Formats: sequence, C-alpha cells, structure tokens
Amino acid sequence: MTEELAKGLDGILVAESELSSVDGQIGELIYRGFSIEDLAKHASYEEVVYLLWYGSLPTEAELEHFSGQLAEARRLHPDVLLTLESLADADEDPMAALRTGVSMLSAYDSEASYTTGDIEASRKKGIRILGKLPTIIAAFQAYREGREPVEPDPSRSFAGDFLRMLSGEEGTPLARETFDMALILHADHGFNASTFTSIVIGSTMADLYASVTGGIGALSGPLHGGANQEVMRMFRDIEDSDRGPIEWVNEMQERGERIPGFGHRVYKVKDPRANILEAKAAALAEEGSEDRYIGYAQEIESHLTEMGLVEKGIAPNVDFYSGVVYDQLGIPFDLYTPIFALSRTGGWIGHVIEYQEDNRLIRPRARYIGPTEADFAPIDQR
Ligand code: COA
Repeated sequence: MTEELAKGLDGILVAESELSSVDGQIGELIYRGFSIEDLAKHASYEEVVYLLWYGSLPTEAELEHFSGQLAEARRLHPDVLLTLESLADADEDPMAALRTGVSMLSAYDSEASYTTGDIEASRKKGIRILGKLPTIIAAFQAYREGREPVEPDPSRSFAGDFLRMLSGEEGTPLARETFDMALILHADHGFNASTFTSIVIGSTMADLYASVTGGIGALSGPLHGGANQEVMRMFRDIEDSDRGPIEWVNEMQERGERIPGFGHRVYKVKDPRANILEAKAAALAEEGSEDRYIGYAQEIESHLTEMGLVEKGIAPNVDFYSGVVYDQLGIPFDLYTPIFALSRTGGWIGHVIEYQEDNRLIRPRARYIGPTEADFAPIDQR
C-alpha cells in the first residue's frame, strides 16, 4: 500500500507551539492568547516581540530595558553600510539586499554561533539582529536615493525611528502609530512557509543569523510575502489603464489569473488583519494622507464578494490592505516585503528559540519515483 503524500504539508502537524494561533474558519489570530485586535490597539511592536520571546507581556521596567537594548542594537558596522551602498549601486532588489545585509551581520557578532541550551543568549542575539533590520532597510533606501543614511536615534521607538530613518522626516503621530500597528499585525502567523524555513534551519542548530536569512529568502516569493507588492502593481496598472478596477479583475478572472491579495492557505474568511488595516487606511485618509488606492481595494472587495469568490473561501488577506496603508505612509512599493520581513523577524526568532528548547532535527522524506535500475555508461559513450 502506498503511503499518503502530504504535498505542501497541508494540515500536517509537525510541532507544538505557544506563540500564535490562526483559526481560518472564523478569521481569528491570537498571540499567546491575546487577540490581534487587542494587541494592535493597545500594545507596541516592542511589547509584542517581548511577549513572543518571553511568554508574557512585559512590565514597564522590562519593556524599557528590552526596548532600550533593541534601540542600542540599531547601529550598523561601516562594512555593512559599504556593502549596502554597493548593492544599491548595482540596483539590487531590496529584499535581496536585506537578505545579504542580515547574513553579513554575523561577521561582526563575536557570539554569532549557537550556544546550546542558552535561551537568554539566543534572545540577546535576537535583539542584535532584529534591532538592525530597520537600519539596513532605511540605509539601503537612502543609498538608492543617492543620499547618506540617517543615523539611528536610540531614544525613539522601533517603528518611529524606522520611519524617520527611511524618509529623513519625523512623520505624524498617526503615521507612527499606524506603522507600529502594521508591524504588530505581521509579527507572527503560525507555521507559515518562512517561519517553517527558519525553524528547519534552527533545527540543525545553525545560528540565528542563518535562520533569519533563510526566512527572508522564503518570504520573498510572490505566494508569500511578495503578494502585497503584486497588489500594488495591480492597482498601479489599473490607474495607468483605461479600465476601472471591476473590469480589470473581471478580465483577470476570464484569463484564469489569481487576484493578488485574495485567498489564503489557512483563512477561509476575510483575514482579521485586513479588517484592521482597512480601518487604519480610512483613518489616514481622513487625516489627509493621499489615498489613491483604498477606493480600488474596497471596490474590488465588494465586487468579488458579490461574485461569490469570498463565499468560496477566497477572501482578502493581509496583503490586500497593507500595501494601501504603506502607500499612504509614502513608502516605496518594493520595500513592502522587506518591511514584512522586518516585522516577521520577531516571530521567526521567537519560534526558533521555542523549537530549540525541545529540538528535533526536521528531516521529512520524499517518495522516490525515479528509475530503480540504470546502466552506467562512461562519458564518451553517452
Ligand atoms: N484569485 C482567484 N482564485 C484563487 C485565488 C485568487 N487569489 N487563490 C486561490 N484561488 C483558487 C484557485 O484557482 C483554486 O481554484 P480551483 O480549485 O478551481 O483550481 C482554489 O482557489 C484553491 O487554490 P489553491 O492554490 O489550492 O489554494 P492555496 O491554499 O494553495 O492558496 C494562496 C493559497 C495564498 C497561494 C493563493 O490563494 C494565492 O495564490 N493567492 C494570491 C497570492 C497572495 O495573495 N498571497 C498572499 C497570501 S498571505
């Protein structure tokens, strides 16, 4: 009898985790028991990362200490900056630049390699990695724009300092709050492809730099983190065309193409994060930020709902609205996926630390379907 093949590992349980839970039938996401709605409304990204890594919400003193350490870690070694500058000159994709930048960080961390069983050492290493991601993305963007990077300011919040380093401007309190919330929404999401990649790497007891670098690689694909850029590309194409959003998606469907930002392996209803971001996009628009695409997003969503797509379980996911919000914040399209990686690094590191506490090397099998006997011919006889 042939064993059943779990292609794509759909629904296969491979570990236990206390970090986050996704209920795709009712559209619920929780981090360690706290609803994503509560965390988005009341917590900061630093608080959420602490929750994911330490298991409970921090006290004021714990948060101050943790945020301070993250802020102190923001500065980059000059060699990393030099590399980012040459990658920008070579017109490298920002996600690839982030992957290279993070991979390079280990060279300047004398304690980069894994210390078996020392969870606190892993958390400290996690802080040194996560703290530097905002600076890498902002510095790469500065070089692309032909200016010098803005120096990090450890007195500012993770989200606020990133926005300031990215644009060189302070930004409004609503912009900072919205960005912080977007980071919270993307921080963790069960055993998705990039988290699983990080864990697979961590299960070999490789160092955290390797796990985060691998996570970034997995997240870069259009079926995962790349989807929000695809959504914005679609909106921009609609804007540049002589067709409206409804006509556009109808044509896509006639051609059998997938609508970016719709559908999810787990959610069969609208992603709760999409609801929160949609509301935030409306708040930003009310405050006067340019809202080129919220109208397109809402029109497409109601049209596809009327057409029965949502009822079939293909509903808007987080990417359908995250791009709209980032665009309102003036962030360039191709930084959306690196920002997703920035946020998800909190989740990746939390999962790797949790998994390594009770580690088992991940090593599945493939069913061999190649020939069982082949006659070897020397090269000159082939
Ligand atoms: N637009 C239209 N139809 C879609 C769709 C979309 N975005 N996503 C899935 N479908 C359809 C498929 O065509 C398929 O239809 P069929 O059974 O008639 O062939 C059915 O839904 C199931 O698709 P499948 O690929 O098996 O689902 P999945 O669980 O593997 O898909 C995604 C999950 C995310 C890969 C998929 O929905 C997708 O490609 N979405 C667009 C990209 C995206 O937004 N990714 C970000 C996710 S956070």
